[in-house]
Amino acid sequence: MGAIASDAVSDTTPDFLDDVLTGLQRRPKQIAPKYFYDRAGSDLFDRICDLPEYYPTRTELSILECHAGDMASAIGANALLIEPGCGGCTKVRYLLDALDQPAGFVPVEISGEHMLENLAPLRAQYPELPLHPVCADFTQPFELPTACDQNARRVLFFPGSTIGNFMPREAEDLMCALRDLVGSDGMLLLGVDQVKQTLVLEQAYNDQAGVTAAFNRNLLHRINTELEADFRLENFRHKALWNAHEQRIEMHLVSAQRQRVHIDGHGIDFQPGETLITEYSYKYTDARLAALATTCGFRVRQRWTDARDWFAIYLLDTK
Ligand code: AVI
Repeated sequence: MGAIASDAVSDTTPDFLDDVLTGLQRRPKQIAPKYFYDRAGSDLFDRICDLPEYYPTRTELSILECHAGDMASAIGANALLIEPGCGGCTKVRYLLDALDQPAGFVPVEISGEHMLENLAPLRAQYPELPLHPVCADFTQPFELPTACDQNARRVLFFPGSTIGNFMPREAEDLMCALRDLVGSDGMLLLGVDQVKQTLVLEQAYNDQAGVTAAFNRNLLHRINTELEADFRLENFRHKALWNAHEQRIEMHLVSAQRQRVHIDGHGIDFQPGETLITEYSYKYTDARLAALATTCGFRVRQRWTDARDWFAIYLLDTK
């Protein structure tokens, strides 16, 4: 999962078929966004991150570029840095360059293959840094390797506004699990996209070049190839809109006509104009983020943003 300049490439999980069939029985139909990220989906996501309309990645990078030194000072020396879904491990380098004697880095990645590809360059760039990769789905409980420095302060780095792809209750569950993982003197450095003008938000998910539309439809292609389905991609239209009440971008695939799709022998009917929800991307205000942090035993200690206040990186501690 995501900005993860190509974060989460997931392997097919045994749950994929069940999740897809269950989601297609819901009204409205819905499939979890974690399934976007097969190899092609991750490549498309990398292209999204470079689009002129998609501001989050470059804005977060600019914040890291300007403030990694301040973040490192606030974190202190000898921290054990943990990154769930580190993907290409691009953003963490700003911190690794700034931190005083980090005790180690723990990248957590669902795909072992993807992790190995990304670790070699990291090892070459930081030969002194103890690396403790964990192959796990970070939305499920996972243990830190015993070889990690057990006395070091644990600092989770969770950039890219990935938290925005979780429903409010799921975001709470995840943040509470992260709080348990870092322990009583731990910290969480969290990148969060901010609520802003509708036009800016909607353009970011409706780019002119159609890359986000291709990313959205690739989910159907993945289902076709991995689950023996017969979605006709040209029969589904990409739609992304801002839901002001829920404070989220919603991505949909809208059926252009009445049609029946077969998945692993099951027939699924779509009405003309019927929607399949593929992603929610929640945007936060400071107040909502602080409320989420408090519910999960964190407190906002510092916040860094860009000149337009479009994106923010929060340092949460547990005091
Ligand atoms: C990974 N995630 C934070 C992205 C987002 O903006 O919600 C995924 C994405 N979907 C469409 N464009 C980018």
